[in-house]
Amino acid sequence: MSTIVLIGTQWGDEGKGKITDFLAERADMIVRYQGGNNAGHTVVVGDKVYKLHLIPSGILYEDKVCIIGSGVVIDPAVLIKELKSLEDRGISTANLKISQRAHVILPYHQLLDQAEENSKGNKRIGTTSRGIGPTYMDKSARVGIRMIDLVDQAELANLLKENVQGKNNILTRVYNCEGVNYQAVLESYKSYAKVLQKYVTDVSIIVNEAIEDGKSILFEGAQGTLLDLDHGTYPYVTSSNTTAGAACVGAGVGPTKIDKVIGVAKAYTTRVGEGPFPTELYDEVGLYIQKQGGEFGTTTGRSRRCGWFDGVIGRYTVRINGLNCLAITKLDVLSGLEKVKICTAYRYRDDIIEGFPASLRLLSECVPVYEELPGWQEDITGARKLGDLPINARKYLERVSEVAGVPIAIISVGSKRTQTIVTAGI
Ligand code: IMP
Repeated sequence: MSTIVLIGTQWGDEGKGKITDFLAERADMIVRYQGGNNAGHTVVVGDKVYKLHLIPSGILYEDKVCIIGSGVVIDPAVLIKELKSLEDRGISTANLKISQRAHVILPYHQLLDQAEENSKGNKRIGTTSRGIGPTYMDKSARVGIRMIDLVDQAELANLLKENVQGKNNILTRVYNCEGVNYQAVLESYKSYAKVLQKYVTDVSIIVNEAIEDGKSILFEGAQGTLLDLDHGTYPYVTSSNTTAGAACVGAGVGPTKIDKVIGVAKAYTTRVGEGPFPTELYDEVGLYIQKQGGEFGTTTGRSRRCGWFDGVIGRYTVRINGLNCLAITKLDVLSGLEKVKICTAYRYRDDIIEGFPASLRLLSECVPVYEELPGWQEDITGARKLGDLPINARKYLERVSEVAGVPIAIISVGSKRTQTIVTAGI
């Protein structure tokens, strides 16, 4: 292993936390490079369950350096709570480094997120209400507050004053809701700065030096390809780039430094929030998958919509991310089904479509073309090598790989670190 980018290939929640944790064992450094606390990772170590939103799951290993890159948006209150809960459980956070250039989420971002959603009626995105979109909006509008500004009291006071004035105008005049109190926000953010100051640094230097020293680095993506601002199901997307290219931008490394890209996909598909989802199941099979897979969000607790594996998305995601291989998670969830299905193409009116369409109107009218395979009844959670899996499960994986056009290197059959099958060199 040298430099690996790990991304989600569907609508997020693919089980990246588990795969990151598994690969982190061989890495020296783990880097988060986009998104914010809209993400949620559940990692199970022994009988302990950790739910992380901002801190890379590598923190669970004492000797790994964990980086939050400039592409991440940080809610300091959430980060401090996460740090405290780790420390309370005896996990050291001394190896965490936070980019000076990462943008800060402020209370008015959350209020704007909610107000914008409420104003959209049935066109709402279904955001996590964490203020992610408005924070990235401020970044693009060049009025955002970065970690380097947060830890500089005078700069924070100035920038916050300008921002609070502008945002309160929008909140009160456009959305008819209450604004925020400048002094109260300033005081709480000054106190956050005191706690976080020691972690804030130029992380691009640290990551590039590690690459030069031949260290193994894992770049851990949040959300999934179809939530990407450019390549996802726009406008039902998040406000950052979730695809592999974002690792370079959000960590401050050049594309020439990346060796491999691994895409994580569930053995089926899930989605939270609004927007078209061609293979969504509305029947008892969908409910079975939701129940067996525990498909309820780590961040918001919302139930996830469930459907069959979508090979059209699989091929799309291989191309957009330049995937070398896939990691398939939650294969065990499909155990017990009589038949399993893979979507190989879409039917749109009289046409068969092989590629993933940009038009949401077209996508919402697409009907999946399915290939049906026999299921398997065996409990596979104890499988540790490919040969331990029932023949039907192996045939299913073979077809997934063929349809997506990429080899499968990792198979996960349970939430524990040990419940992982590695089929190829990674
Ligand atoms: P936002 O990122 O809170 O602005 O939400 C935009 C869309 O992305 C909504 O559909 C969310 O449900 C979705 N989303 C954001 N983060 C995640 C995630 O970590 N997993 C799954 N969906 C997410």
